[in-house]
Amino acid sequence: MWLFNLHTPFIATLMQWLSWILVLIGHTGIWCIVFNHIHASSIPRRQRKLTELLILFVVVVPVLVVAAKLLFDFSLQMAGFAVWLQWYFYAAMVFGFFLTMRWVYRRLTTHLPPTVTHTGTRRFNIQGRLSQPLLAGTKANILGRIPFNQALDLSEECFEFSKPNLHPDLDGLRIVQLSDLHFTGCILPEYFQVVIEQANRFDPDLVFLTGDLIDNERCLDWLESILSQLQAKHGKYYVLGNHDRRMEDESVLRNKLRAAGLTSAADGNWHDIPIGQALVRIAGNELPWYVHANELQPDARMPNSDLKMLLSHSPDQIGWARQHQFDFVFAGHTHGGQIRLPLVGPIVSPSRHGVKYCAGTFQFGDTVMHVNRGLSADEPIRILCPPELTLVTIRQADP
Ligand SMILES: [Fe+2]
Repeated sequence: MWLFNLHTPFIATLMQWLSWILVLIGHTGIWCIVFNHIHASSIPRRQRKLTELLILFVVVVPVLVVAAKLLFDFSLQMAGFAVWLQWYFYAAMVFGFFLTMRWVYRRLTTHLPPTVTHTGTRRFNIQGRLSQPLLAGTKANILGRIPFNQALDLSEECFEFSKPNLHPDLDGLRIVQLSDLHFTGCILPEYFQVVIEQANRFDPDLVFLTGDLIDNERCLDWLESILSQLQAKHGKYYVLGNHDRRMEDESVLRNKLRAAGLTSAADGNWHDIPIGQALVRIAGNELPWYVHANELQPDARMPNSDLKMLLSHSPDQIGWARQHQFDFVFAGHTHGGQIRLPLVGPIVSPSRHGVKYCAGTFQFGDTVMHVNRGLSADEPIRILCPPELTLVTIRQADP
């Protein structure tokens, strides 16, 4: 039993191999979607970890079974498998074909929104600047030795966002975004101090931190000692992310951030920032992990606010952002996929949209969203996905 009944042995073998490759892509894709949806939700960490192991088992075991069959039978035929497994393989093959076509389509059509210009990238290895080691612990040092690990290769990404009818006092407004700092103790404070020096060099008007600031209670004091060094002329704002829930007492965490000079953007209120004669309004969204954003009232002052910006940990809140008519959304959470395969790109991203919005700048009607790759992670490993420090400069669009 096989789909291809071709008489030329070479062509038939080629098609069978191609079919198995599509099965592998579809099989992995199905379970990546399950993984991404679970990580986009607010289920407790212990249950999430359990589902990760189950998914790993479900992904790996069929691949090993097929590999063993190929090894011992030297056969590419599907007839040797149980009928239900054959049907699963056919479904995976069709899905694998769909994923491949979608990947090609996205590669051909992904581009920056017309209102956004990428004005530069500057990348350097922070370890190369410092004499002391930046990784602590056996696991971090093992990961740090993996070839092509970019966990300490800071990439500064600069963009300009052009808004029609922008108030002249906001032309040139500079916003620095830091996301996903993940204070675990694996990457030492000196790394973050260099990041903050670079952020301050941008001479920002506003600094936004978009969640996943801390994973480990032992690093609570870092929040004040490190983040208080950030400088911004008109304020420093933050939202929390899913990893911040590892802190047992939310109020202790928020007090530490307040002591560092940071204001919570996601307290259910609009925050008005007068700049010259103009008004900037910001708000925050920590859904689905912290729910204060549900208390945010519709913006009654909309016609009078010259620029509305949202800090959101997850890019999945883009629909909420559009409902509230934000001009610009700063998001994080997805780490750009963190480990990207050559040519293929990212395959795992904790979002309902999978890897579609895992990094980069996107336009949805009048709302633009930038998804930052983050500065760190739970584990210090990044392949083809360096940590990101973002500068967005707001510009008056040409009439
Ligand atoms: Fe994160």
